[in-house]
Amino acid sequence: GKSVISLDDLSIAQIRDLLHKAQYIDAHRKEVSHTCEGRVLATLFYEPSTRTRLSFETAMLRLGGKVIGFAGAQLASVTKGESIADTLKTVSNYVDVVAIRHPKEGAALVASRAASVPVINAGDGGHMHPTQTLADLATLQSRFGRVNDLTVGLCGDLMFGRTVHSLIETLCRFGNVRFILISPDELKTPQYVIDRINATPSCSYVEVRDLASVIGDLDVLYMTRVQKERFFNEDDYLRLRDTYILDEDKLSLAKPDMAVLHPLPRVNEIAVEVDDDPRAAYFEQVKNGMLMRMALESSVVGDDLPGYEPLESKEV
Ligand code: CP
Repeated sequence: GKSVISLDDLSIAQIRDLLHKAQYIDAHRKEVSHTCEGRVLATLFYEPSTRTRLSFETAMLRLGGKVIGFAGAQLASVTKGESIADTLKTVSNYVDVVAIRHPKEGAALVASRAASVPVINAGDGGHMHPTQTLADLATLQSRFGRVNDLTVGLCGDLMFGRTVHSLIETLCRFGNVRFILISPDELKTPQYVIDRINATPSCSYVEVRDLASVIGDLDVLYMTRVQKERFFNEDDYLRLRDTYILDEDKLSLAKPDMAVLHPLPRVNEIAVEVDDDPRAAYFEQVKNGMLMRMALESSVVGDDLPGYEPLESKEV
């Protein structure tokens, strides 16, 4: 198995196969429940998480494997000064696969270089969150029957929102996506992500500040939380946090089949009333996150799902 630090570590064919595999897993939960028997996953979470850690762990448990780890570095030996590299050299002796979340950009890559087992990036600072992108892609696939040929609005904190960076980079690889980047000037998309769009002839982007004026054009609205933990200055956070609030009034301007995604957790940026709108897809995203992590974990440790036929062999 190979580490997954960014989705660039997987080919498009592999990503499509994971999407297919997750659907198979959902329909065959009992049959796959022994797939990873004897395997152990470590979740090393140096930052808070609800969905990512619990779904990585549930995914391994539902495949018949076991889980160790820590949630919050305060109980781990990092508090005594241990490096990420030494932690991974240690944990590699215990487990078959590691999921790591860390506040520093690049930490997962450092971890993967020190580890002798596959490492999956569960979020590194404001950089990347590849398994969230897998959940996002699965949600697009189930809503639209495809992940591209779409107008995708990304709204909120496009600077620090790592889920946005991973998603844009991956959608560029699929091609034919029109991005509408909706943010305040202070939270615009980083240049390395814009460069990726510019390097993709079939994709385009515009940057705007106002959500209401573009919402009617969108197939997908990907809302994000303003990433309080990445701000240097509390006043900047307080000034920017409520820039965008999606409520039923604003949603009435959108297409009837637009999909609203959000990696969660949300703060105020989606009103609770929107949860009952058929366009709200963010709790489906949560379910897809677990299924995609089941697909990824079984693939990374090299365990075949009973009865599963890989996508390629069906297509040829
Ligand atoms: N979407 C996501 O990463 O959520 P958590 O921070 O709760 O894991």
